[in-house]
Amino acid sequence: MLNAEVKKLLNEQINKELYSAYLYLDMANYYSVESLDGFENWFYVQAQEERDHAMLMRTYLLNNEESIKLTAIAMPDVAFTDYKKPLTAALEHEYTVTASINNIYAAAYAVKDFRTMQFLDWFVKEQGEEEKNTSDLIKKYELYGTDAKGLYMLNQELGTRMYAAPSLVL
Ligand code: FEO
Repeated sequence: MLNAEVKKLLNEQINKELYSAYLYLDMANYYSVESLDGFENWFYVQAQEERDHAMLMRTYLLNNEESIKLTAIAMPDVAFTDYKKPLTAALEHEYTVTASINNIYAAAYAVKDFRTMQFLDWFVKEQGEEEKNTSDLIKKYELYGTDAKGLYMLNQELGTRMYAAPSLVL
């Protein structure tokens, strides 16, 4: 059985991860309409990873004999004004997710919930990777994306991203 506050925050994180999946799916859809299938692929893979994050939270709660309350997922509402906008919005979003994970970690730390801290260690590392990947993508876009040939090549590169199941197994 988990501390009530830790449990509540983990339950809320399921919703946040599913919202992340929804947001990245919306970005994938935008790029698909713009015929940038590589960018679409990158965000589609990202959406799959976010769903995985939600399922890891779900499994952790269930493994600890906790019930789960699923709540409504908000509509993605980022306006895509140009090709760069989803990239910067994604990075901003990852910063908020990092803060949210850190907040759960702090709650677990406060009640000496070492099991949840150990579980969250994977997410702490994952957030560092996600921030870097998205930041790197913005830099590449700024370097190459405003030139038609550069955009074409970058789109090709992003099309090679492959989905991989999470390294964390519960
Ligand atoms: Fe599940 Fe991108 O954080």
